[in-house]
Amino acid sequence: MDKLIREFDVALRAITGTTRARRASPADAVGQDDTGLDAGQRRHVAGLMRVNHVGEVCAQALYQAQKLTARSPAVRAQMDDAAREEEDHLGWCSQRLRELSDRPSLLNPLWYAGAFAIGWIAGRAGDRISLGFVSETERQVEQHLDSHLQRLPAQDLRSRAVVEQMRDDEMRHGASARDAGGIELPRPVQAAMRAAARVMTTTAYRI
Ligand SMILES: [Fe+2]
Ligand SMILES: [Fe+2]
Repeated sequence: MDKLIREFDVALRAITGTTRARRASPADAVGQDDTGLDAGQRRHVAGLMRVNHVGEVCAQALYQAQKLTARSPAVRAQMDDAAREEEDHLGWCSQRLRELSDRPSLLNPLWYAGAFAIGWIAGRAGDRISLGFVSETERQVEQHLDSHLQRLPAQDLRSRAVVEQMRDDEMRHGASARDAGGIELPRPVQAAMRAAARVMTTTAYRI
């Protein structure tokens, strides 16, 4: 029962955005405010950071489901460690949204539920597939964050600092999943994951 409440708490905090980051936001190291951004740019940046925030809500759900379904204690611990770093990302993205006087996605409960279901399926398929799923997810997220670094205004050093640190962390998560024995997922699965991510990113930019 204790465990169930703890897991439910993770979900609630992710959805409501009350997650607390353990590491300070990389944006805090940037001595700059947002006065260099005009109204249109602020809206654009907020859209991108809302997408990233949803990505991190999904990361919480995926890692939680994959932790709960992991067969070996080592894999369970690995999922738990990564989830903790993703909590930092979630906190940094919501802080950035607040700074821009904007809000997270209204569909967060839906994103969470969808990602949890996918993570559950991946986890039930076995540890090596589950780790392979982490590796592929993190690879796609890394590419996605790279594209955001192209699309963010050059002068928005605060958002860039957050996205750059997230990208470095995601690369590490992917690499350790591969080191732990994650297999390469079949191409059609990779393509389906990319398609699902596209639905999420286009929707979350606005809603
Ligand atoms: Fe992340
Ligand atoms: Fe990650």
